[in-house]
Amino acid sequence: MHVEVRGLNKHFGDFHAVKDVSFGITKGHLIGLLGPSGGGKTSILRMLAGLENPDSGEIVFHGKTVNQLPPQEREIGFVFQNYALFKHMTVYENIAFGLKVKKANKQHIKDRVMELVELTGLKGFEKRYPHQLSGGQRQRVAFARALAPEPQLLLLDEPFAAIDAKIRQELRSWLRDLIERVGITSIFVTHDQDEAIEVADEIMIINQGRLEQKGTPWDIYKAPKTPFVATFIGESTLIENASELKGFANAGGGKPTKALIRPEYIEVGHLHEFKMASATVQGVVKHLHFRGSEWLIEVEVGGHKLSTYRSLEKETLQPGQEIAVLVHRAYLFNDERSWIQENGLKEDPMPVFI
Ligand SMILES: Nc1ncnc2c1ncn2[C@@H]1O[C@H](COP(=O)(O)OP(=O)(O)O)[C@@H](O)[C@H]1O
Ligand SMILES: [Mg+2]
Repeated sequence: MHVEVRGLNKHFGDFHAVKDVSFGITKGHLIGLLGPSGGGKTSILRMLAGLENPDSGEIVFHGKTVNQLPPQEREIGFVFQNYALFKHMTVYENIAFGLKVKKANKQHIKDRVMELVELTGLKGFEKRYPHQLSGGQRQRVAFARALAPEPQLLLLDEPFAAIDAKIRQELRSWLRDLIERVGITSIFVTHDQDEAIEVADEIMIINQGRLEQKGTPWDIYKAPKTPFVATFIGESTLIENASELKGFANAGGGKPTKALIRPEYIEVGHLHEFKMASATVQGVVKHLHFRGSEWLIEVEVGGHKLSTYRSLEKETLQPGQEIAVLVHRAYLFNDERSWIQENGLKEDPMPVFI
């Protein structure tokens, strides 16, 4: 199902929880709704599901406005964080529930439940009750139950938040495969950036009720539109006073107040390794972590802790050692705008990915 949301707003009393949110989702895509707790993610899902009324804005499924449609007529499957399985029902009965409500015939219910039991890897567990299952298995039952009535849109609200890390990792790729096979349009809410990047085709970053940016994880990473997005996706160090950076004084356009540095924006090494030594600043190696294919190096530069990677092929650095640091590029911003800029002192600037 193609989903279109236009100018969605929601207040709870005086509190403006969802602010003018608009987006579209292509049929069959899996979108990650990512942002800190309290940002408005659940409120957006609940409005899509018809469990909450927007103050203003339009929700359009298949080209048809559904604002007035009750939840049961919206063809939506919902999976919550806390399983919410029916405790007194077996796995079979849980999965069959939606079809029984729709008064499907017995044979169809049986066929569909068995199909989903297969699809979700729950064969042999049909007669068990929720308390006889692991967290991961329960959540798979929740998926099967949501998919049984053949919804057109699947809403997943932090479905793995209550599951321990190792199983969660397995469930991510399992979910991706499942959704790809079923081909259903889905929205996956999470506050975990790794989870969103791994699971979703596209990500929407939600912060304080606003949609700050929508795009593929790579698009967002290489060209963040707001400082919030820049810090939320990927590793970075914030430099409160951008004028401390060497080589960024003639920032194209405005004057930056703050800067963000990512690991791949900087290079560390001995002074002789750099062509343009005058563009480097002095730092001290704090820690070295062996990362299989390279070193992750933490350096301190003028009171800031930066991290970067260094090839195993190069001379090994030691903690406490003084080294040269070249900041190739920085994400700069002030109150008006944000932009990525190359170090102006460098000989041959590295390509910028925008
Ligand atoms: N029914 C409600 N009544 C009052 N405030 C609410 C209600 N639902 C959500 N909120 C508030 O709206 C904000 C957004 O909540 P929510 O959509 O649950 O965020 P998220 O899912 O991103 O954590 C929060 O500050 C929350 O306290
Ligand atoms: Mg929530």
